[in-house]
Amino acid sequence: MKILLLGSGGREHAIAAKLAQSKRCNKLYIAPGNAGTAAVGENVSLNPEDFESVGRFVVDNNVEMLVVGPEAPLVAGIADYFAETPALNRVMVIGPRKQGAMLEGSKDYAKAFMHRHKIPTARYQTFTAETLAEGQAFLETLPAPYVLKADGLAAGKGVLIESDLATAKAHLADMLHGQFGQASASVVIEEYLSGIELSVFVLTDGSHYLILPSAKDYKRIGEGDTGLNTGGMGSVSPVPFADKEFMKKVEDRIVKPTVRGLRDEKIDYHGFVFIGLMNCGGDPYVIEYNVRMGDPETESVFPRLKNDVVELFENTANNTLDACSLSVDPRTAACVMMVAGGYPEKYEKGKLITLGEELDDVQLFHCGTKRNENGKLVTNGGRVICATAMASNLPEALLKSYNRVATVEWDGKYNRRDIGQDLLKLMI
Ligand code: AMP
Ligand code: GLY
Repeated sequence: MKILLLGSGGREHAIAAKLAQSKRCNKLYIAPGNAGTAAVGENVSLNPEDFESVGRFVVDNNVEMLVVGPEAPLVAGIADYFAETPALNRVMVIGPRKQGAMLEGSKDYAKAFMHRHKIPTARYQTFTAETLAEGQAFLETLPAPYVLKADGLAAGKGVLIESDLATAKAHLADMLHGQFGQASASVVIEEYLSGIELSVFVLTDGSHYLILPSAKDYKRIGEGDTGLNTGGMGSVSPVPFADKEFMKKVEDRIVKPTVRGLRDEKIDYHGFVFIGLMNCGGDPYVIEYNVRMGDPETESVFPRLKNDVVELFENTANNTLDACSLSVDPRTAACVMMVAGGYPEKYEKGKLITLGEELDDVQLFHCGTKRNENGKLVTNGGRVICATAMASNLPEALLKSYNRVATVEWDGKYNRRDIGQDLLKLMI
């Protein structure tokens, strides 16, 4: 089968590596991809949000499966475009249609969905510029800190957590007056949940589901979870505290009602649900839904999957996911992200990269890389490359990953040195 994967990050490199391993995949295209994906498939220069061009490529090249990595094309309706275009409607699409993608595209929609299906989440209300005064009054009824969320997609920047009431009120006014453009025309205010976060991934065909290994990501640029938010500075899978008992609560209280809710509301959903969870004293609460895999969680979750991923995706597209069961490598995967100096603020691109020596059980996944005009590997983004190591326990996986990270070089390279340390402390 010929497969087209959309996206260009480390998530896509990790997915591409698995797709390329499948006997069922005889040609893999990645659009637009990066220098890493070019080593496991063929990169094509297409914009994932230009549906017509993507569709034309799919028809011209007899592509039978489209796997959508990032959320933007899903929220913009690429799965609907394929379903509604006669020449494309037999293509298997991994990724929900627009209505399902609203679970990520609108925080208010997601919260209302959770409320309808009695899925545990923080108490909330939604406000617009017309109801600013009510929003400020609502803030007064909540204990600090205050959580304000732009309703729409805001490139991961739309959530503000503020401990001072007056500042929170001012932020609410700024957001409703266009701080994040249209994305913050509505703002969700919710109760603060205190606990430890983790990510749970579900693959669903809309009625059946598989729960993928759990993972934890590290969002802040600085060690000890300080400084600005980033796309993610590393990840670990599995999460030690997500034991059988906790995961049973996640499945019963969150996964089952989510999938049942999609089915009952006749939401056509074939793809991933990424559930951002808070573990509050042993009970899981949903912080957010995303409609795709996480990045950099995929870089520690996918290497642990022993299944033929193409087979999983075919069964997802054909509503037969109940015929599949997951086979997961019991080892721990630790992923450490290397970023450009200055990231997540201003940074330079085009720095020459040397990859160093390969190590057993460690894979490098490219995020922002490309080949320059001389064919040399150079940086091409903020997050550049990550190293994922597998080992029988977390300390060893971290050690191996950091040994590999030490051999990768470019001018200005930065990585956190404390990925996984919080989990190690919890384990003693
Ligand atoms: P989101 O963009 O929804 O993932 O939110 C960004 C980050 O804000 C999350 O990863 C959490 O760390 C934090 N956050 C969001 N909602 C809450 C909440 N209700 N209580 C505590 N922290 C939250
Ligand atoms: N790692 C978080 C995300 O992909 O949104």
